[in-house]
Amino acid sequence: MSKTIVITGANRGLGLEFCKQYLAEGHKVYACCRSPESAEELLKLKQEAGGRLEAVPLDVTNAAQLTNLKYTLQGQSVDLLINNAGVSGQRLSFGEVNEQEWMKVLHINTVAPLLVVQELVDLMAADGKILLMTSKMGSIEDNTSGGSYIYRSSKAALNAVGKSLALDLFDRGISVAICHPGWVQTDMGGPNALINTETSIRGLRDVMEQLTIDKSGQFFSYDGSIIPW
Ligand SMILES: NC(=O)c1ccc[n+]([C@@H]2O[C@H](COP(=O)([O-])OP(=O)(O)OC[C@H]3O[C@@H](n4cnc5c(N)ncnc54)[C@H](OP(=O)(O)O)[C@@H]3O)[C@@H](O)[C@H]2O)c1
Repeated sequence: MSKTIVITGANRGLGLEFCKQYLAEGHKVYACCRSPESAEELLKLKQEAGGRLEAVPLDVTNAAQLTNLKYTLQGQSVDLLINNAGVSGQRLSFGEVNEQEWMKVLHINTVAPLLVVQELVDLMAADGKILLMTSKMGSIEDNTSGGSYIYRSSKAALNAVGKSLALDLFDRGISVAICHPGWVQTDMGGPNALINTETSIRGLRDVMEQLTIDKSGQFFSYDGSIIPW
C-alpha cells in the first residue's frame, strides 16, 4: 500500500537516496530541503515521479518554514517521518572547541529533530513511524578515540531525545527508531567510507519495515543490529 513519507535534508546524500528508493516503491514523498529550486537531482526525480514527489522548502532551524510544512501537509496522514538533515560541524580538537560552532550543530542535529516531530505529530498515522538519523559517533560505549566533542555530543543528545519520544508516543502507537546509517559515501562520509548510499538506505528501509511498537526507542544500525548507548 502506498505510504506518505516526509524526509528532511532530501536534496543530497542519504536523504536523496531515501527519496529515490521510496519513490521506486510507489510511495508519496514530501522531500524537504533548504533550496528546492536549486536541488537539481531532486527536481529530476520530481519530473519522473508522476505527482508523487513534493519538494518543500525547509531549513530545519527555521520555525516559519516548519509551520509552512505543517500547512502543506494538512489533510495527509504521515506514515513515516525521517529526520535525516544533519551536519558534522567543524572538526575542532580539545582546546579549539568554541560555543558558537557547538550551539549551531546542536540546533540542527539535536533541537530541530524534536521540533519537527512536535510540529507534525498530530498529522501522523495511528501506527506512524519516526526515524531519527543519529550516528555511532553518539554512542558513549563505542567512543574509544576521543575528540569530536561537538558532533558526538549532538548525536548522543539526539539519542536521549529519541528514547523519550519513544516513551511519550507509545500510547499513540507511534514508534521511533534511532538509526545509524553506517559509514557512508556522501559529502559527510567522504569517498573512503565503507558503504554506498544504496546499501545504507536499503538496510534502513528494512529496519523501518520491521519496526514495531515493542521495539520502539532502540538504537539500530543499518544492518538491523543494536548499538550500545
Ligand atoms: N555519511 C555518513 O557516514 C553518516 C554516518 C553517520 C550518520 N550520518 C548522518 O546521516 C544524516 C545525513 O548525512 P549525509 O551523509 O547524507 O550528509 P550530507 O551528504 O552532508 O547531507 C546532509 C543533508 O542535511 C542537510 N542539512 C544540513 N543542515 C540543514 C538545515 N539546517 N536544514 C535542512 N537541511 C539541512 C543538507 O542540506 P544542504 O544541501 O542544504 O546543506 C543535506 O541535505 C546526517 O544526520 C548525518 O549526521 C551520516
